[in-house]
Amino acid sequence: MKKFGKKAIKANRPARADWKETAKKKQVGVSDMTLLTKITNEAINDNLQKRWQNGDIYTYIGHVLISVNPFRDLGIYTEDVLTSYQGKNLLEMPPHVFAIAEAAYHHMKGYNENQCIIISGESGAGKTEAAKRIMQYIAAVSGGGRDSAIQNTKDMVLATNPLLESFGCAKTLRNNNSSRHGKYLEIQFNPQGEPIGAIITNYLLEKNRVVGQIENERNFHIFYQLTKAAPANYKEQFGLQGPESYLYTSQSKCLDVDGIDDVQDFQQTVQSMQTIGLQQSEQDAIFKMLAIILWLGNVVFVENGDGNAAISDPDVVHFIAYLLEVEAEALDKALTNRVMETQRGGRRGSVYEVPLNVTQAQAVRDALSKSIYERLFEWIVARINVSLQFHGQVTTLIGVLDIYGFEIFDDNSFEQLCINYVNEKLQQIFIELTLKAEQEEYVSERIEWTPIKFFNNKVVCDLIEEKRPPGIFAALNDACATAHADPSAADNSFVQRLGFLANNQHFESRGNKFLIRHYAGDVMYNVEGLTDKNKDSLLKDLLDLAASSRDSFISQELFSERIDPNSKKRPPTASDKIKASCNALVTKLMQCHPSYVRTIKPNDNKSSKEYDQKRVLHQIQYLGLCENIRVRRAGFAYRTTFEKFVERFYLLCPSTGYAGDYIWHGDSQSGCLEILKHNNIGSDEWQLGTTKVFIRRPETIFALEDLRDKYWHNMATRIQRFWRLNKHGIKHLQLRDAGNQLLGHRKERRRFSLVSQRRFAGDYLDVRNGSGVGAMIRNTMNLQGAEEVVFSMRCSMLVPRAMRSSVPSPRTLVITNRNVHILLTTKSGGTLQMMDEKVIPFSNIQSLSMSTLRDDWIVLHLNSSPEGDVLINCVFKTEIATHLAEASNGQISLNVQPQIQYAKKGGKPVTMQFTRDETVKRDDVYKSHVVRVPTGEPATSESAGLISSRSSAQRRQPAQRSVAPLPSSQRPTPPLPSANRPMPSSGIRPPAVGGRPTPPPAINSSRPVPPKPQPGSIRPPASSGIRPPVIGANKPTPQAPVSQANRASVVSPPGRAAAPAASNSLPRRAPPPPPPPPAAKPGKPQYKALYPFQSAEQGEIAFEKDAVLEIVEKDENGWWLAKYQGKEGWVPSNYLQEFTPPRPAGRPPPPARRPGSMQPKPTIPTSSRPASAVSAAPSTQASSLADAIRARRQQHYDEDEDDDDEWK
Ligand SMILES: Nc1ncnc2c1ncn2[C@@H]1O[C@H](COP(=O)(O)OP(=O)(O)OP(=O)(O)O)[C@@H](O)[C@H]1O
Ligand SMILES: [Mg+2]
Repeated sequence: MKKFGKKAIKANRPARADWKETAKKKQVGVSDMTLLTKITNEAINDNLQKRWQNGDIYTYIGHVLISVNPFRDLGIYTEDVLTSYQGKNLLEMPPHVFAIAEAAYHHMKGYNENQCIIISGESGAGKTEAAKRIMQYIAAVSGGGRDSAIQNTKDMVLATNPLLESFGCAKTLRNNNSSRHGKYLEIQFNPQGEPIGAIITNYLLEKNRVVGQIENERNFHIFYQLTKAAPANYKEQFGLQGPESYLYTSQSKCLDVDGIDDVQDFQQTVQSMQTIGLQQSEQDAIFKMLAIILWLGNVVFVENGDGNAAISDPDVVHFIAYLLEVEAEALDKALTNRVMETQRGGRRGSVYEVPLNVTQAQAVRDALSKSIYERLFEWIVARINVSLQFHGQVTTLIGVLDIYGFEIFDDNSFEQLCINYVNEKLQQIFIELTLKAEQEEYVSERIEWTPIKFFNNKVVCDLIEEKRPPGIFAALNDACATAHADPSAADNSFVQRLGFLANNQHFESRGNKFLIRHYAGDVMYNVEGLTDKNKDSLLKDLLDLAASSRDSFISQELFSERIDPNSKKRPPTASDKIKASCNALVTKLMQCHPSYVRTIKPNDNKSSKEYDQKRVLHQIQYLGLCENIRVRRAGFAYRTTFEKFVERFYLLCPSTGYAGDYIWHGDSQSGCLEILKHNNIGSDEWQLGTTKVFIRRPETIFALEDLRDKYWHNMATRIQRFWRLNKHGIKHLQLRDAGNQLLGHRKERRRFSLVSQRRFAGDYLDVRNGSGVGAMIRNTMNLQGAEEVVFSMRCSMLVPRAMRSSVPSPRTLVITNRNVHILLTTKSGGTLQMMDEKVIPFSNIQSLSMSTLRDDWIVLHLNSSPEGDVLINCVFKTEIATHLAEASNGQISLNVQPQIQYAKKGGKPVTMQFTRDETVKRDDVYKSHVVRVPTGEPATSESAGLISSRSSAQRRQPAQRSVAPLPSSQRPTPPLPSANRPMPSSGIRPPAVGGRPTPPPAINSSRPVPPKPQPGSIRPPASSGIRPPVIGANKPTPQAPVSQANRASVVSPPGRAAAPAASNSLPRRAPPPPPPPPAAKPGKPQYKALYPFQSAEQGEIAFEKDAVLEIVEKDENGWWLAKYQGKEGWVPSNYLQEFTPPRPAGRPPPPARRPGSMQPKPTIPTSSRPASAVSAAPSTQASSLADAIRARRQQHYDEDEDDDDEWK
């Protein structure tokens, strides 16, 4: 075994930590099988066996994790173990599923790339367990400590596991907790790597299980949980009894499972529903649907005199009708008759009823049960998604795929065909991304490479899903389309169509069976019933019945679709759906950076002792582990684009990074080379392709990562030292961070706002200490006792003019801990005079508004002011909003929107429009309510890492200065290790962009009188009207409600709270005061050159003595950004002197400030308020869920658009 400690990097840097020390337990075999001396299936098997027997269930092939199910608790998922993997790379610790989760999380944060973790393996191999451990790990390490919204998201994500397992897992012969559906969970993160939301995509539930299971298997867990542990009210209302009382739960003779406590699990299911936010009414609705299914299973048909089906016990049907809230006669009819319609030349003809025989009636009954359960399951997933939905901008995500495993039964049907097809597709992705793509990439990047052969299962995927020549799914669809009325005729038609596949090496037709040679083994499928399952259409009669239900959960939520009787479009079949969703999944996965967990089952007996060598060998073969190792060994462990590599490691080389800034002027490829060479990485260890850099061994990349961490560690120490020296520094940086959060990625940014030096120092004019101009301001303001200055700055304020439109006019803005002061400076007889023009107490500021563009406008919406709202233009507007939010304890909120509505003098509402205009050279231009501004940095831009400012001497070095920085796409932003990132100060939180929907309150429904159980009686009293069915003596017998009048919806639909009424009335205002005199023309601060400055450096501008320059931005280090003769560039500030241009003579003084008015509070009509300021009418969950489900169904139709052959 190679030594991990061997240093790949001999740079003049501190030695990296020795990760061998951390591996306390003695490891057996090799933990990474690329290090095996002999690469054969047998050697792999030996290695896995040795390790498994030693309790080491995890082994790597590069970054792929192989996991062999231990079937026992190894104590390896404790908090201590979890913590030990935090922040470590794959090689630092023994292999573990936590290490894979850490690698994905680290990669997502470090490279800003979406991740997916694909877990594959046979049924019972440990996929679901692995997925849960990954979620456990991510929840534990992804921060958000005191943030209750983040904690809530984590709790909800974790709660989806027990909930979906109860409804989607069942005991099978292979696995006591077998997933009978596929699940792709995407956890969404904010820029800090904290989970903010999630989406679950569900794949093909095995709904057939609802109506029947093979011996010793069970129905879905939830049925046993409910029947064993239902609370008394459910028992009464829904007539619930033990699982032995229902055919659907008892026919397979397996009511209990070793290691599963249904009663306890029921409590957990309910608890999870609560955590996810399901209201009581929603929970009741779900459990009622389960009761309906259970009772439907007990409907027994007998043959009547005509040989047709008749219901043997009408009480059962009556009780189901009561639960379904439909007419009993209608239910009876729907179960025993079929409405047929004649077609004449494509037109609808006459309608007549055909009685069903017993077998057909049973099939109809089961179809209804399956359909209810499938729709209920989809509804639950959609409902979870509503709770987990995040409305703002998601930065990155990690997807975890846990799908049903490959399975072979004695009798394999449509379900197995679909499950195995999905597994074929997953194997395809693995091949695509690890074997094929890897090798193709070497070719395209012109990397030296010896190709490795492997079996590509694409041919099996094609065999199943191809349209032309038709594969198995296409043949099934064709057979369904031509012989739809008679299932067995359709099956025969399908067998004939299979003849087309005779030449396919992976297919054999054998009478009423056919064989597919899957990558994981040969599976014989039974043709009988295949076309019917594929057709998967619920009879129109049943849909009509459901639509007639008075329970809106049934008619509006579960069965919301309405069939268009005139539509000729073929509804999608089950195979259409699985194919479409599977291909969508593949597309999604291919866009993420993948990690793999390949689970292996050591035996078929769930034994923790038995390692069945033959059984494992078979899995090693079909998983292609040998090829995987070969490709891995011969190839490169790591590759990334030149840009990403430079972005990540530019700090490690003095010519690419200086003091945290990116200073390389060449292209990314040469930057890569520079970094690799500077760090003495041997030339056999890497190759440069055409767009990517390839690193041979993982140790090298980990060593680089280690150096990078150390760099940041040192930098953090320096910053901490600086902070200790300058106590305010930390506060200023925290404020800047808080400002970024307040904006919440909603506004485009100025370049300067993002530079590392920018911090929110606040009192720029030094009013607090009263030095220089600060003294004058302080004297003018006449500060009250405890009034403390927090911010001061020059700005412009929009002032109205007589008979003309408003213009921005220069002002001085001072924010104290109580008020906003706006001061006006005038010149009188050669002396400057200042007056405190406006004093606005915080209590009078309703909110703030900014546009989404890069401009510098901020609007102060006031509660009452006859002069209207205050509009200020200031480069430090984010800082203004931040100080106001903090000083008011978060009371003054910030709205960011494309256009801003504000109240003008006299309360008249006006809209300020913002438009992009790239011709505007600098800042923004205001004219007649329109602000024109060039495009800024993207709203999602992050502030540069916090580093110390460069000295002005460095600033003068053009090579080290980013005067003309790279376009944002090329400019790396060094991220700070999260531990070192300053936390935002409390009290300031950005408003949620859309806001998590709050479940509306439950609607109290007047419930029917709950049926009373009649102890000892097998029938309810005749007077009750509707008698609950009884399976055995001494069972509780629920009663139906007495009258229709009392019958309100048993389960109310999810809330439909109305939007709060909004007042649109504008209070009448007093006539406006006389307009003030025209204000001075606004301008940038101007400076006059004391000396000439000669410079030919790029980014600097030269000027003559006495030149007047406009200063755009002032950098603390003495170099200012200036505008001169239409050019913009850096100039030395010590060459300049402030210059006030002469004002036109005879300008009248500004009006005196009007005394505080008692006029009514100006109100902006709610309808015209900024969207984020108005609490949106809560969209009903019911409608959003129904919409989601409808959209999902519609999607299948849409995806099938090109295949609209008529459904005859
Ligand atoms: N890492 C593990 N440690 C201990 N026991 C495990 C582990 N992984 C799996 N098991 C055991 O194996 C059982 C089956 O695992 P799991 O349900 O994860 O299989 P699966 O691959 O999801 O199967 P299916 O495809 O049927 O859903 C678990 O219920 C558990 O008892
Ligand atoms: Mg599973």
